Amino acid sequence: MNALHPEQYRWHSVPNRPALEEAALGIILDSAATSISERGRFNIVLAGGETPRGIYERVREAPTDWSAWHIYFGDERSMPPTEPELNSCMAAEAWLSHVPIPEGQIHVIRGDIRADKAAAEYAQLLAGVDLFDLTLLGLGEDGHTASLFPGNPLGTAVDSPDVLPVFNSPKRPPQRITLSAARLSRSRRVVFLVSGESKRKAVAAWRAGNPIPARAIMPEAGVDVLVESSLLE
Ligand code: 6PG
Repeated sequence: MNALHPEQYRWHSVPNRPALEEAALGIILDSAATSISERGRFNIVLAGGETPRGIYERVREAPTDWSAWHIYFGDERSMPPTEPELNSCMAAEAWLSHVPIPEGQIHVIRGDIRADKAAAEYAQLLAGVDLFDLTLLGLGEDGHTASLFPGNPLGTAVDSPDVLPVFNSPKRPPQRITLSAARLSRSRRVVFLVSGESKRKAVAAWRAGNPIPARAIMPEAGVDVLVESSLLE
């Protein structure tokens, strides 16, 4: 796996979760303002899991032109549409159901059909999307990101499919859909959100140069990692 040069990782140490949320909020709103003023729209990829919840709750109060926001998801869990553990349900509950983003601009990944069919469907939708403007990603304890897990194909080759089905996720549920590393990397800016003692080993592995899946994300502009300072000690 090729990797970014160390200097292309910008590690931003933040003292705690609220500071991480504040920093992430600033990046999201700056990216939105720039994208909307330059291109009239803002294509953002949302991270799943729990870390982003507080950030999403704060974004919903933002003074912005919601009609220009286009929401995509980095991955989704294969679960029934009303399952609160769906990444799209968490984002809707924390943020999206509270703001007037046109429904046709919130592009959820279907969790209610087989992952390979959902992947093909979402890939078709992404075919019409050039660069994402901002991609938010989490980091798992094993170094996974989105639903790109160690030992699985990460889709790093430039001609990789945009979206991959997962049938053996070590993080429940076993069936998921994930954007490939190549597709996640086609983003003007990529920001990882890393918080919680359980991520210590993954952060250490990442900084030691180990080939964890998060390292497969290699946007041209490099990667920003917002990480709690205690995980860098
Ligand atoms: C998921 C996420 C996954 C998540 C990390 C971190 O579906 O679970 O896409 O990649 O971002 O596992 O999760 P936490 O933020 O809950 O620690």
